[in-house]
Amino acid sequence: METVFDLAGLHRVISEWKAEGASIAFVPTMGNLHAGHFSLLERARELADKTIVSIFVNPIQFGKGEDYESYPSTLEKDSDGLAKNDLDLLFAPDLSQLYPGGVDTDTRIEVPGLSNILCGRFRPGHFSGVATVVAKLLINTQPDVALFGEKDYQQLLVVRRAVTDLCMPVEIVGMPIVRETDGLAMSSRNAYLNMTERNKAPLIYSTLQLAAQRLRQAPDQIPAIEAEGMKSLESGGFRPEYFSVRRTEDLAEPNAQDMRLSILTAAWLGTARLIDNVKVLVESKIET
Ligand code: PAJ
Repeated sequence: METVFDLAGLHRVISEWKAEGASIAFVPTMGNLHAGHFSLLERARELADKTIVSIFVNPIQFGKGEDYESYPSTLEKDSDGLAKNDLDLLFAPDLSQLYPGGVDTDTRIEVPGLSNILCGRFRPGHFSGVATVVAKLLINTQPDVALFGEKDYQQLLVVRRAVTDLCMPVEIVGMPIVRETDGLAMSSRNAYLNMTERNKAPLIYSTLQLAAQRLRQAPDQIPAIEAEGMKSLESGGFRPEYFSVRRTEDLAEPNAQDMRLSILTAAWLGTARLIDNVKVLVESKIET
Protein backbone atom coordinates (compact mmCIF):
# COMPACT_ATOMS: atom_id res chain seq x y z
CA MET A 1 0.00 0.00 0.00
CA GLU A 2 1.17 3.48 -0.86
CA THR A 3 0.17 6.55 1.15
CA VAL A 4 0.08 10.07 -0.28
CA PHE A 5 -0.67 13.24 1.62
CA ASP A 6 -0.93 15.75 -1.22
CA LEU A 7 -2.69 16.19 -4.55
CA ALA A 8 0.56 16.08 -6.54
CA GLY A 9 1.34 12.62 -5.14
CA LEU A 10 -2.21 11.47 -5.80
CA HIS A 11 -2.10 12.70 -9.41
CA ARG A 12 1.25 10.96 -10.01
CA VAL A 13 -0.08 7.55 -8.95
CA ILE A 14 -3.34 7.96 -10.84
CA SER A 15 -1.55 8.94 -14.07
CA GLU A 16 0.53 5.75 -13.82
CA TRP A 17 -2.58 3.63 -13.30
CA LYS A 18 -4.48 5.33 -16.14
CA ALA A 19 -1.48 4.78 -18.45
CA GLU A 20 -1.65 1.05 -17.63
CA GLY A 21 -5.39 1.09 -18.40
CA ALA A 22 -6.28 0.11 -14.80
CA SER A 23 -9.79 0.78 -13.49
CA ILE A 24 -10.14 2.57 -10.13
CA ALA A 25 -12.59 2.18 -7.24
CA PHE A 26 -12.71 4.86 -4.55
CA VAL A 27 -14.00 4.87 -0.96
CA PRO A 28 -14.10 8.27 0.77
CA THR A 29 -14.02 8.21 4.59
CA MET A 30 -13.33 10.39 7.60
CA GLY A 31 -11.21 7.68 9.21
CA ASN A 32 -11.63 5.86 12.53
CA LEU A 33 -12.33 2.87 10.37
CA HIS A 34 -14.58 -0.03 11.35
CA ALA A 35 -16.04 -3.09 9.63
CA GLY A 36 -18.61 -0.91 7.80
CA HIS A 37 -15.80 0.97 6.05
CA PHE A 38 -13.90 -2.25 5.35
CA SER A 39 -16.98 -3.79 3.70
CA LEU A 40 -16.84 -0.94 1.19
CA LEU A 41 -13.17 -1.59 0.53
CA GLU A 42 -13.78 -5.30 0.06
CA ARG A 43 -16.42 -4.59 -2.60
CA ALA A 44 -14.19 -1.93 -4.17
CA ARG A 45 -11.49 -4.54 -4.68
CA GLU A 46 -13.96 -6.74 -6.54
CA LEU A 47 -15.12 -3.89 -8.77
CA ALA A 48 -11.83 -2.44 -10.02
CA ASP A 49 -8.14 -3.13 -10.60
CA LYS A 50 -6.98 -0.47 -8.16
CA THR A 51 -8.48 0.86 -4.93
CA ILE A 52 -8.16 4.23 -3.22
CA VAL A 53 -9.40 5.13 0.26
CA SER A 54 -9.33 8.73 1.44
CA ILE A 55 -9.23 9.78 5.08
CA PHE A 56 -10.17 13.39 5.57
CA VAL A 57 -12.30 14.98 8.29
CA ASN A 58 -14.15 17.58 6.29
CA PRO A 59 -14.75 20.75 8.34
CA ILE A 60 -17.48 22.22 6.15
CA GLN A 61 -19.91 19.35 6.73
CA PHE A 62 -19.89 19.95 10.51
CA GLY A 63 -22.20 22.57 11.99
CA LYS A 64 -21.36 25.02 14.78
CA GLY A 65 -21.12 23.14 18.08
CA GLU A 66 -20.82 19.75 16.34
CA ASP A 67 -17.94 17.34 16.85
CA TYR A 68 -15.42 18.51 14.21
CA GLU A 69 -12.75 19.30 16.83
CA SER A 70 -13.27 16.04 18.72
CA TYR A 71 -13.88 13.69 15.77
CA PRO A 72 -11.73 10.61 16.51
CA SER A 73 -8.48 10.50 14.54
CA THR A 74 -6.72 7.12 14.38
CA LEU A 75 -4.59 7.42 11.23
CA GLU A 76 -1.90 4.93 12.23
CA LYS A 77 -4.37 2.19 13.18
CA ASP A 78 -6.51 2.91 10.10
CA SER A 79 -3.45 2.76 7.88
CA ASP A 80 -2.43 -0.66 9.31
CA GLY A 81 -5.96 -1.99 8.76
CA LEU A 82 -6.07 -0.74 5.19
CA ALA A 83 -2.66 -2.25 4.36
CA LYS A 84 -3.82 -5.60 5.76
CA ASN A 85 -6.90 -5.38 3.57
CA ASP A 86 -4.83 -4.97 0.41
CA LEU A 87 -5.62 -1.35 -0.29
CA ASP A 88 -3.50 0.11 -3.11
CA LEU A 89 -3.51 3.79 -2.21
CA LEU A 90 -4.37 5.78 0.91
CA PHE A 91 -4.97 9.48 0.34
CA ALA A 92 -4.77 11.42 3.61
CA PRO A 93 -4.63 15.13 2.74
CA ASP A 94 -4.52 18.01 5.19
CA LEU A 95 -6.89 20.95 5.05
CA SER A 96 -4.74 23.10 2.75
CA GLN A 97 -4.78 20.44 0.02
CA LEU A 98 -8.57 20.38 -0.35
CA TYR A 99 -9.29 23.97 0.73
CA PRO A 100 -6.42 26.01 -0.73
CA GLY A 101 -8.40 29.23 -0.35
CA GLY A 102 -9.65 28.45 3.15
CA VAL A 103 -13.05 27.11 4.15
CA ASP A 104 -15.03 30.32 4.64
CA THR A 105 -15.26 31.54 1.05
CA ASP A 106 -14.92 28.18 -0.64
CA THR A 107 -16.94 27.32 -3.76
CA ARG A 108 -19.87 25.14 -2.71
CA ILE A 109 -22.06 22.55 -4.37
CA GLU A 110 -25.72 22.64 -3.39
CA VAL A 111 -28.14 19.80 -4.04
CA PRO A 112 -31.48 21.52 -3.59
CA GLY A 113 -34.52 19.89 -2.02
CA LEU A 114 -32.95 16.64 -0.93
CA SER A 115 -30.44 18.52 1.27
CA ASN A 116 -33.07 20.28 3.35
CA ILE A 117 -35.20 17.38 4.58
CA LEU A 118 -34.62 14.78 7.36
CA CYS A 119 -30.98 15.18 8.56
CA GLY A 120 -30.66 18.34 6.45
CA ARG A 121 -33.38 20.06 8.48
CA PHE A 122 -31.38 19.53 11.65
CA ARG A 123 -27.94 20.06 10.12
CA PRO A 124 -28.20 23.09 7.83
CA GLY A 125 -25.30 23.19 5.34
CA HIS A 126 -24.26 19.61 6.11
CA PHE A 127 -25.11 18.08 2.73
CA SER A 128 -23.66 21.00 0.82
CA GLY A 129 -20.44 20.32 2.75
CA VAL A 130 -20.61 16.64 1.87
CA ALA A 131 -21.41 17.23 -1.82
CA THR A 132 -18.59 19.77 -2.08
CA VAL A 133 -15.87 17.59 -0.55
CA VAL A 134 -17.03 14.48 -2.42
CA ALA A 135 -16.88 16.42 -5.70
CA LYS A 136 -13.33 17.59 -4.88
CA LEU A 137 -12.32 14.02 -4.06
CA LEU A 138 -13.92 12.54 -7.18
CA ILE A 139 -12.35 15.13 -9.47
CA ASN A 140 -8.92 14.32 -8.08
CA THR A 141 -9.15 10.54 -7.73
CA GLN A 142 -10.88 10.07 -11.13
CA PRO A 143 -12.44 6.73 -10.20
CA ASP A 144 -14.64 4.55 -12.39
CA VAL A 145 -16.70 3.68 -9.34
CA ALA A 146 -17.12 5.16 -5.85
CA LEU A 147 -18.73 3.33 -2.92
CA PHE A 148 -20.95 4.74 -0.17
CA GLY A 149 -22.77 3.07 2.73
CA GLU A 150 -26.54 2.98 3.06
CA LYS A 151 -26.17 3.82 6.75
CA ASP A 152 -25.94 7.40 5.53
CA TYR A 153 -28.74 6.82 3.05
CA GLN A 154 -29.60 10.48 2.50
CA GLN A 155 -25.91 11.19 1.87
CA LEU A 156 -25.83 8.43 -0.76
CA LEU A 157 -28.77 10.02 -2.59
CA VAL A 158 -27.28 13.52 -2.33
CA VAL A 159 -24.02 12.25 -3.81
CA ARG A 160 -25.88 10.40 -6.60
CA ARG A 161 -27.78 13.56 -7.49
CA ALA A 162 -24.67 15.76 -7.42
CA VAL A 163 -22.77 13.32 -9.64
CA THR A 164 -25.67 13.08 -12.12
CA ASP A 165 -26.28 16.83 -12.20
CA LEU A 166 -22.57 17.65 -12.61
CA CYS A 167 -22.26 15.00 -15.39
CA MET A 168 -19.39 13.31 -13.54
CA PRO A 169 -18.27 10.09 -15.24
CA VAL A 170 -18.36 7.86 -12.17
CA GLU A 171 -20.69 5.10 -11.01
CA ILE A 172 -21.96 5.46 -7.43
CA VAL A 173 -22.48 2.14 -5.64
CA GLY A 174 -24.50 1.89 -2.41
CA MET A 175 -23.57 -0.79 0.14
CA PRO A 176 -25.67 -2.40 2.90
CA ILE A 177 -25.40 -1.33 6.55
CA VAL A 178 -22.93 -3.35 8.62
CA ARG A 179 -24.17 -3.87 12.18
CA GLU A 180 -22.81 -4.99 15.54
CA THR A 181 -24.16 -8.37 16.71
CA ASP A 182 -26.85 -6.60 18.78
CA GLY A 183 -28.09 -4.68 15.73
CA LEU A 184 -26.48 -1.28 16.35
CA ALA A 185 -25.26 0.17 13.03
CA MET A 186 -21.49 0.52 13.13
CA SER A 187 -20.39 4.14 13.31
CA SER A 188 -17.31 6.07 14.37
CA ARG A 189 -19.63 8.08 16.64
CA ASN A 190 -20.56 4.97 18.67
CA ALA A 191 -17.30 5.67 20.49
CA TYR A 192 -19.04 8.62 22.19
CA LEU A 193 -21.42 6.24 24.03
CA ASN A 194 -20.68 5.32 27.64
CA MET A 195 -21.42 1.78 28.77
CA THR A 196 -25.00 2.46 29.89
CA GLU A 197 -25.75 4.27 26.63
CA ARG A 198 -24.08 1.55 24.56
CA ASN A 199 -26.41 -1.00 26.18
CA LYS A 200 -29.44 1.12 25.28
CA ALA A 201 -28.29 1.90 21.74
CA PRO A 202 -29.67 -1.21 19.94
CA LEU A 203 -33.18 0.13 20.65
CA ILE A 204 -32.80 2.34 17.59
CA TYR A 205 -32.65 -0.69 15.29
CA SER A 206 -35.29 -2.74 17.14
CA THR A 207 -37.66 0.26 16.97
CA LEU A 208 -37.05 0.50 13.22
CA GLN A 209 -37.67 -3.23 12.81
CA LEU A 210 -40.92 -3.05 14.76
CA ALA A 211 -42.04 -0.06 12.70
CA ALA A 212 -41.18 -1.99 9.50
CA GLN A 213 -43.34 -4.88 10.64
CA ARG A 214 -46.22 -2.48 11.44
CA LEU A 215 -45.80 -0.77 8.08
CA ARG A 216 -46.07 -4.06 6.19
CA GLN A 217 -49.27 -4.90 8.10
CA ALA A 218 -50.80 -1.41 8.03
CA PRO A 219 -49.28 0.66 5.22
CA ASP A 220 -52.03 3.29 5.58
CA GLN A 221 -50.99 4.05 9.17
CA ILE A 222 -47.80 5.99 8.46
CA PRO A 223 -48.39 8.96 10.81
CA ALA A 224 -49.21 6.61 13.71
CA ILE A 225 -46.17 4.44 12.98
CA GLU A 226 -43.93 7.53 12.93
CA ALA A 227 -45.39 8.80 16.21
CA GLU A 228 -44.94 5.40 17.86
CA GLY A 229 -41.32 5.28 16.72
CA MET A 230 -40.62 8.70 18.24
CA LYS A 231 -42.31 7.64 21.48
CA SER A 232 -40.42 4.36 21.70
CA LEU A 233 -37.08 6.16 21.33
CA GLU A 234 -38.03 8.85 23.84
CA SER A 235 -39.10 6.21 26.36
CA GLY A 236 -35.74 4.48 25.86
CA GLY A 237 -33.82 7.63 26.81
CA PHE A 238 -33.07 8.91 23.29
CA ARG A 239 -33.75 12.43 22.04
CA PRO A 240 -35.04 11.67 18.55
CA GLU A 241 -34.92 14.34 15.83
CA TYR A 242 -37.12 12.50 13.35
CA PHE A 243 -38.58 9.06 12.71
CA SER A 244 -39.90 9.13 9.20
CA VAL A 245 -41.34 6.83 6.54
CA ARG A 246 -40.21 7.87 3.07
CA ARG A 247 -40.07 6.61 -0.48
CA THR A 248 -36.73 4.78 -0.86
CA GLU A 249 -36.05 6.11 -4.34
CA ASP A 250 -35.96 9.83 -3.51
CA LEU A 251 -36.96 10.22 0.17
CA ALA A 252 -40.19 11.99 -0.81
CA GLU A 253 -43.25 11.48 1.38
CA PRO A 254 -44.88 8.31 0.07
CA ASN A 255 -48.22 8.15 -1.65
CA ALA A 256 -50.58 5.18 -1.74
CA GLN A 257 -48.95 3.57 -4.78
CA ASP A 258 -45.41 3.51 -3.41
CA MET A 259 -44.23 0.04 -2.45
CA ARG A 260 -40.52 0.59 -1.86
CA LEU A 261 -40.34 2.51 1.40
CA SER A 262 -37.64 3.31 3.95
CA ILE A 263 -37.93 4.21 7.60
CA LEU A 264 -35.20 6.62 8.65
CA THR A 265 -34.32 8.05 12.02
CA ALA A 266 -31.80 10.28 13.77
CA ALA A 267 -31.66 10.35 17.54
CA TRP A 268 -29.31 11.63 20.20
CA LEU A 269 -28.16 9.32 22.94
CA GLY A 270 -25.98 11.23 25.40
CA THR A 271 -23.51 13.15 23.23
CA ALA A 272 -23.80 10.80 20.24
CA ARG A 273 -26.07 11.55 17.31
CA LEU A 274 -27.02 8.17 15.85
CA ILE A 275 -28.70 7.56 12.50
CA ASP A 276 -30.15 4.38 11.06
CA ASN A 277 -32.66 3.21 8.49
CA VAL A 278 -34.40 0.10 7.18
CA LYS A 279 -36.00 -0.64 3.83
CA VAL A 280 -39.53 -2.01 3.70
CA LEU A 281 -41.29 -3.56 0.75
CA VAL A 282 -45.04 -3.15 1.22
CA GLU A 283 -47.79 -4.86 -0.74
CA SER A 284 -49.83 -2.58 -2.96
CA LYS A 285 -52.07 -0.37 -0.86
CA ILE A 286 -54.61 0.13 -3.63
CA GLU A 287 -57.78 -1.93 -3.24
CA THR A 288 -58.45 -4.04 -6.31
P1 PAJ B 1 -17.63 8.23 7.21
O1 PAJ B 1 -18.65 8.49 8.25
O2 PAJ B 1 -16.23 7.93 7.61
O3 PAJ B 1 -18.16 7.08 6.29
C1 PAJ B 1 -17.47 6.70 5.13
C2 PAJ B 1 -18.34 5.74 4.35
O4 PAJ B 1 -18.57 4.56 5.12
C3 PAJ B 1 -19.73 6.33 4.03
O5 PAJ B 1 -20.11 6.01 2.72
C4 PAJ B 1 -20.61 5.67 5.06
O6 PAJ B 1 -21.98 5.55 4.67
C5 PAJ B 1 -19.95 4.29 5.15
N1 PAJ B 1 -20.34 3.62 6.41
C6 PAJ B 1 -20.21 4.10 7.67
N2 PAJ B 1 -20.72 3.23 8.57
C7 PAJ B 1 -21.18 2.18 7.86
C8 PAJ B 1 -21.84 0.96 8.20
N3 PAJ B 1 -22.12 0.63 9.45
N4 PAJ B 1 -22.17 0.10 7.20
C9 PAJ B 1 -21.89 0.42 5.90
N5 PAJ B 1 -21.28 1.55 5.51
C10 PAJ B 1 -20.94 2.43 6.47
O7 PAJ B 1 -19.65 9.49 5.42
C11 PAJ B 1 -18.60 10.08 5.57
O8 PAJ B 1 -17.52 9.53 6.25
C12 PAJ B 1 -18.33 11.46 5.01
O9 PAJ B 1 -19.55 12.17 4.99
C13 PAJ B 1 -17.69 11.45 3.59
C14 PAJ B 1 -18.57 10.75 2.55
C15 PAJ B 1 -16.31 10.79 3.64
C16 PAJ B 1 -17.48 12.91 3.12
O10 PAJ B 1 -16.72 13.64 4.01
